[in-house]
Amino acid sequence: MKQVISVVNLKGGVGKTTTAVNLAACWGEMGKKVLLVDMDPQGGASLSVGIMNGGNEFLDALEGKTALPVYSTDVPGVDLVPSGSAMETANTLFTGENSSELLFHCLGQTRGDWDLVIIDCPPSMGFHTMNALMSCQHVIVPVEASFLGLNGLKQITSALESVKPQNPDIKIEAIIPCRAHRRRRIHWEIMDTLKELFPGKISPIIRENVSLAEAPGKGKPVIMSARISKGADDYRLASMWIDEQINGTPEPSAHRFSNIFSEDTSTPDNGFQNYQASSFAER
Ligand SMILES: Nc1ncnc2c1ncn2[C@@H]1O[C@H](COP(=O)(O)OP(=O)(O)OP(=O)(O)O)[C@@H](O)[C@H]1O
Ligand SMILES: [Mg+2]
Repeated sequence: MKQVISVVNLKGGVGKTTTAVNLAACWGEMGKKVLLVDMDPQGGASLSVGIMNGGNEFLDALEGKTALPVYSTDVPGVDLVPSGSAMETANTLFTGENSSELLFHCLGQTRGDWDLVIIDCPPSMGFHTMNALMSCQHVIVPVEASFLGLNGLKQITSALESVKPQNPDIKIEAIIPCRAHRRRRIHWEIMDTLKELFPGKISPIIRENVSLAEAPGKGKPVIMSARISKGADDYRLASMWIDEQINGTPEPSAHRFSNIFSEDTSTPDNGFQNYQASSFAER
C-alpha cells in the first residue's frame, strides 16, 4: 500500500509548495522513494527542484493519451511529475462526470516503487485540487498564524467533507504552522486555537527563514541549498513527525489504493485493467 499525500490550502502563499518540496526532500534523505506531483499550473514545485516544464505532458496523460511524465531529479530519492502553464486549461478541458478522478486513474497506471506520493496543489478549489483530493488518503495543511489563516481551515474542512462520499479514506493528517514568528503574540494565540480545533494534528512549526525563501531560486530544496539552517532543521523535524503520524495510524481500508504503483512491471496493461476492475467497481 502506498501513501498518497496532498498538500492543500485554498489560501495563497501560505507555504504549500515550500512544504511539498521540502518534505519530499527530507523523506528522500531518510531513504524513502518519493514521487512529487506538481498539480499547480504555476509549476512552483517543479522549479523548486530545478525543472522547468510547460505542463503539456501532464495534460496529455490526464487526457489518457500518454503515460504520466515522471522525471528524475537531482534530489536524492525524489522523482517529479512536472507542471506548467498548459495545465491551466485542465479547468475547462475536463468537465465530465469523472473529471475529478483523472489523476487517480493516471497514478493507478503508473508503475514505480515509490513509498510516498506527495501532491502540491494550487490555491483554489478547481480541477487540480479536486483531483488531488480524490487521489489521496492523507492531507497536510500548511497554515500561517493569522486570523485569515484560520478562516482558510474552515474551507479545507468543508472541501474534505465534499469528497468524503467518494473517497472515504481521506483525512487531515497534519496542520503545519508555516512562516512562524514565535516572538509575536498572535502566533501563540493562533497555536492555542489550532491545538483546540485539531488536537494531536499540529506538527512542529516551520519558522520564517531566509534560506527557505532563497532555495527555490537555486532550484534545490533547503536541505541541499542550505544544509545547516533553521529551514533545513524545521523541515527535517516536521518530516519525521508527519512520517510517524501517518505510519502510526491504522491502515485505511486498502481497497481503493491497493493497486496504485504496483511494483510489477511485467504486465502493465493487465495491471491497469485489474486496477480499474478492482478499484472503481468498489466505489
Ligand atoms: N518558512 C518560510 N520562510 C521564508 N519564506 C518562506 C517560508 N515558506 C515559504 N516562504 C516563501 O513564501 C512564498 C510563498 O510560499 P509558497 O510558494 O510555498 O506558498 P504557496 O502556498 O505554495 O503559494 P501558492 O498559493 O501561490 O501556490 C515563497 O516565496 C516562499 O519561498
Ligand atoms: Mg504553491
